[in-house]
Amino acid sequence: MFSRRTAFERFENEISLHLGRRRAAGLPILDLTESNPTSQRGLGPDQPFLARALSAPGIDRYAPDPCGLPVTRQAIADDMASRGLTVSPESIIVTASTSEAYAYVFKLLADPGDEILAPCPSYPLFEFLAGLESLRLGFYRLGYDGEWFIDFDALRKAVTPRTRAVIAVSPGNPTGAYLKRHELHRLSRFCAERGLALICDEVFFDYALDADMSGTASALEDCEGDCLRFVLSGLSKIALSPQIKIGWLAVRGPDALTAEALRRLEVTADAYLSASTPAQLAVPVILKERLRIQAGMKARLRRSLDALKTLRSSLSSAAWEPLRTEGGWNACLRLPRTRTEEEWVISLLEDEGVLVHPGYFFDFPEEAFVTVSLLAAPDVFDEGIRRIAGHVAQSLS
Ligand SMILES: Cc1ncc(COP(=O)(O)O)c(C=O)c1O
Repeated sequence: MFSRRTAFERFENEISLHLGRRRAAGLPILDLTESNPTSQRGLGPDQPFLARALSAPGIDRYAPDPCGLPVTRQAIADDMASRGLTVSPESIIVTASTSEAYAYVFKLLADPGDEILAPCPSYPLFEFLAGLESLRLGFYRLGYDGEWFIDFDALRKAVTPRTRAVIAVSPGNPTGAYLKRHELHRLSRFCAERGLALICDEVFFDYALDADMSGTASALEDCEGDCLRFVLSGLSKIALSPQIKIGWLAVRGPDALTAEALRRLEVTADAYLSASTPAQLAVPVILKERLRIQAGMKARLRRSLDALKTLRSSLSSAAWEPLRTEGGWNACLRLPRTRTEEEWVISLLEDEGVLVHPGYFFDFPEEAFVTVSLLAAPDVFDEGIRRIAGHVAQSLS
């Protein structure tokens, strides 16, 4: 009766079983996996502001434009211009989320059975987004030597005759690593030479924490090789408003390819018309306040990262270390390989009441890593990392 692509594995893993039991027993949890900014009081835009933004003149009319309302596309282009990036509103397609933007781009580039390459480690939803388009998700390894980098050898080996596109996430989730300008140019040449498109997810781009931004670049800038590029973002991260359901993609690259991509994307978007008029009309109001909206979050993320570094440097010989986090909302911790990631996560939960994600959730190619969310409330974050440090020390003594 049902399609193979929706035959998802739905079993509960060991970690969720432990978590469920702990919740059912009413035991406290210091949650260092939180990724929803609206669950944290004072982080996202407030109710009166959003109520105003969502009642712009015109919300009573339906005059859809498949690519997005002109005022919405203009506001997105203006927002990019405020970062020094030149994009014409005509090369922007508005969607109901960044995830939907991925779905449009995947439909545009690949037929069932074709392949998209994603970085490893990276965002777990890619597997589902690709699978739902009947595509295979391949991986290319990111290396780490004091900072993350693209392993171009691994990328070259990962390409098959069915590969259609390469995804890059800048800064990465959960790595927090920005694509460096030299990497972007090399990636663009790599894709152009092989007739591949580059899909660049820049949802966390504004959240630089420990990065030399002069060495990083957006895929909207001119790139060597000038491959066809799709740059994705949305309100859920840049305006801390996932509930508004607005994302977008911008197309750059050789003129003829860009024009044909946009014509095909318009037809795809016309089949759904999914971004609502009130949400689209709110975009100019919300983006005008982007920097104000982001200020509290940036302060929270920086404070958490500082707390983590301070804790680690106060311990002369701890068997764990935070990896370099250049930006984004997470930090990755390397733990001793005396236990598996799953054992660490379960013992941290059961013995310390601290919830973290195991590295394998993000397809870390090796053990033993966990990730912590930098947007947890300061008291929760500080106590959580203090308990992680204590737990690791105790486990080795
Ligand atoms: C790297 C990355 N891309 C895209 C998304 C999804 O964004 P949206 O809520 O706009 O679909 C997320 C959400 O966490 C993400 O981490």
